[in-house]
Amino acid sequence: MASFLVSKSGPLKGKVTINGAKNSVLPIMAASLLSDKCSILEDIPNLEDVNVMCELLEHFGSRLDFKGRQLKIDNGNIQPALAPYDLVRKMRASFLVMGPILSRFGRVKISLPGGCAIGTRPIDLHLKGFAAMGADITLGHGYIEAKADRLQGNRIYLDFPSVGATENIIMAAALADGLTILENAAEEPEIIDLANYINSMGGHIRGAGTDTIKIEGVKELNGCTHTIIPDRIEAGTFMVAAAISGGDITLCNVIEDHLRPVIAKLKEAGVKIETVEEGMRVYVNGPLHSLDLKTLPYPGFPTDMQAQMMALMCTIPGISMITETVFENRFMHVSELKRLGAKIKIEGRSAIIEGVERLQGAEVRATDLRAGAALVLAGLFADGTTEVTDVHHIDRGYEDMESKLRSLGANVKRVP
Ligand code: UD1
Repeated sequence: MASFLVSKSGPLKGKVTINGAKNSVLPIMAASLLSDKCSILEDIPNLEDVNVMCELLEHFGSRLDFKGRQLKIDNGNIQPALAPYDLVRKMRASFLVMGPILSRFGRVKISLPGGCAIGTRPIDLHLKGFAAMGADITLGHGYIEAKADRLQGNRIYLDFPSVGATENIIMAAALADGLTILENAAEEPEIIDLANYINSMGGHIRGAGTDTIKIEGVKELNGCTHTIIPDRIEAGTFMVAAAISGGDITLCNVIEDHLRPVIAKLKEAGVKIETVEEGMRVYVNGPLHSLDLKTLPYPGFPTDMQAQMMALMCTIPGISMITETVFENRFMHVSELKRLGAKIKIEGRSAIIEGVERLQGAEVRATDLRAGAALVLAGLFADGTTEVTDVHHIDRGYEDMESKLRSLGANVKRVP
């Protein structure tokens, strides 16, 4: 398996273009299953998770045609085949095909999901939504089966604003009979992107981006062309790369509004952030300050930026604190950061970080996608060489991370 060799680098300088968002493209590809017409998706990132979603769609009979970053999906010949464990376990987001297949074909059988090892990550809220729409759900032998002649719109309250459950229920409701009102829904920008895509296909979804989403089911959906929004987490990761290396970089293809919580926290630490013609300039021209943050559903601070911010905090003098409220057990990067000399103590759902002047390179393991990114960032600051192993986790969500960093002057290379 491949590793990254990262040496002390910086200050990083230059421009970097952000790709389409992983967390938008996956649900949108799943939503294409709602229609038997062709969809054309623009700005598809080249990611392992996208490859897995392609495999899954092809398993159902989709015909996929890539032209550079454009993907044409032809769903004229879909069968509601069983979604097997060896496909679904590779990626938790595979579970997002459940809503569209159930809604379009009235039945679906899918393996229980796998994915990142960050907490138990149940799917009860997805199933609660389908059941409220009249689906008959059975579980057995590692599979979930749902049946409904036709789903019926209903009022559904989510106990927690789960991103995946919100998306799955929106997709199921898009072809259901009548009105579904989803309360305490997730408000992430990727939910708005999904709703915009379904609406472009002829769907009737209102209120995406707020906590109450109204979906009026339609009989059928058409094809359309849709451009995926930029990846706010990839952007945030490069912002931290600028900060940790004392650099000056410009991010192109970003939506600043989606980055509000990340911008606020980096500014609080003393990082300078300016809107420029090409996008957003992020630079450091003075000492940084320790800070506290708490992860929360959007518009709170994203849990997917928690590990990268922790890497930065390890390098800022003083005591910082992170409280993780979205996932349990999302501190696996802590023991790896400690191998580089970081001083971090875990107390329940909080990590207390004492900034150090230096980190030392060592061999560390990317335990999940964002943990891997955090270790690469820490490696930019550490003396000597840091070997980040298991970078297949990083490839799930970052396209060519090492080349992009290298183009900014970082010493990063991929080795087999
Ligand atoms: C999505 C993102 C992931 C991000 C997460 C939170 C994608 C493909 N992935 O994951 O990158 O970290 O949002 O922003 O978009 N929960 C339940 N029951 C459920 C569903 C979720 O208890 O039925 C809990 C989870 O265990 C977790 C919390 O809700 O503690 C948030 O999960 P959720 O928002 O569903 O995350 P995902 O959609 O899996």
